[in-house]
Amino acid sequence: MTYRGKRRRGPAALLAVATVAATLLGAAAPRPAGHRPPVHVDNPFAGASFYVNPDYARLVEGSAARTADPALRARMRAVKRHPTAVWLDRIAAVRGGSANGGRKGLAHHLDLALARKKPGRPVVATFVVYDLPGRDCAAQASSGELPLTEEGLERYRTEYIDAIAEVLARPKYREIRIATVIEPDGLPNLVTNLNDPECAAAESSGIQVAAVRYALDRLHAVPNVYTYLDFAHSGWLGWDSNLAPAVRLYTDVVRGTAAGLASVDGLVTNVSNYTPLAEPFLTDPDRVVGEGPVRSSAFYGWNPHFDEADFTRSVHRELVAQGWPASTGMVVDTSRNGWGGPARPAAESTSASLDTYVNESKADRRVRRALWCNVAGAGLGEPPRAAPDGYPDSHLDAFLWVKPPGESDGAGEDIPNGEGKRPDPMCDPVATPGALPGAPLAGHWFHEQFRMLVAHAHPPVS
Ligand code: BGC
Repeated sequence: MTYRGKRRRGPAALLAVATVAATLLGAAAPRPAGHRPPVHVDNPFAGASFYVNPDYARLVEGSAARTADPALRARMRAVKRHPTAVWLDRIAAVRGGSANGGRKGLAHHLDLALARKKPGRPVVATFVVYDLPGRDCAAQASSGELPLTEEGLERYRTEYIDAIAEVLARPKYREIRIATVIEPDGLPNLVTNLNDPECAAAESSGIQVAAVRYALDRLHAVPNVYTYLDFAHSGWLGWDSNLAPAVRLYTDVVRGTAAGLASVDGLVTNVSNYTPLAEPFLTDPDRVVGEGPVRSSAFYGWNPHFDEADFTRSVHRELVAQGWPASTGMVVDTSRNGWGGPARPAAESTSASLDTYVNESKADRRVRRALWCNVAGAGLGEPPRAAPDGYPDSHLDAFLWVKPPGESDGAGEDIPNGEGKRPDPMCDPVATPGALPGAPLAGHWFHEQFRMLVAHAHPPVS
């Protein structure tokens, strides 16, 4: 792993200086009995064991128990070992219990993480902060409980973020590295979807930016919490005309927090999306095949970033160009971007016609790159791990499974619910060929999808 320098934080950095000075002087570093100060490391995933959510393992076991094929059943059970993020997708999810479908609350997860922590080895647990007022403004599938109003913002602050921060700051959890993924699709919608009236209102009201800043301020204040802002994926922000303006918006938002750029540890891409990590046969977007460069094909629509490896590299370069520290880490959600299975191409196409060449060469089997809801043909991707080798310029802190594979992206039909979720045409296979039929509400277990993801895993589950 390349050394990327330690991020400076006020108290931790001062303490480190004091410790080094004390050691050089031959004195023992001052340390109150029973109290070890938390150290904010550069990459919280490095060297740590990952917390595995037992609620997720139970859902997986439910699918395994109803699967007749013994080989597939065994592969499903192997998935139970993999860590997935815990989504705090409503106020009730913070406390958990019967108000949240029996799922464990935040403190319960942290108690379990602590109980399983091996002596001398750090443990990292990942939580998704996902309850923005006016959430999912460009779609319907995951709209949330808080309206885009000043009152919604106040509830976000006091009932949601303050409640999370109170738990995370408890001294007994100081030993846990707590990674947070902040508001999937929130800021990206403010970059590209301003033609949608809900997103335009989200932007002009300033409510969502205020909410993200508040979340960063409260979470960054806890020294063992790590903040990763969602940064969409290459098929969304990868165009030249989106990437630099997006980084400008993020820079502006984060500079407006109490600690400025230091309040963010990194960015996470591809959350809940299906964009591959690499396109092994499409490595040069400017290569001309038939009618023009590969990036001009119908599938890529002039976007030069075909995969998350390329995208994270360019995003990191742009961050640094706009003044962010080089130590800013990137994370990719690899839960469902594997694209294995029978349709995965084994070789580069030999076609001289551009679109045929691209369609026959790409690992991403979507018919359109814009598909995001329960996409047919997808498979599990790279298992979660810290500091993955092979992508030095992408500055990857980790591959994570942020979206728990098998949880639906949304429903195409109206399913009454108390979560604020609505039917979404992108999840309706008649309106959107390529979405799986019969999907439950976003976040609910979708057995057929899980079965498909395991069958098409790349690399295969072992
Ligand atoms: C849903 C959340 C859910 C998450 C993870 C989102 O699309 O809106 O309720 O927790 O996915 O499955």
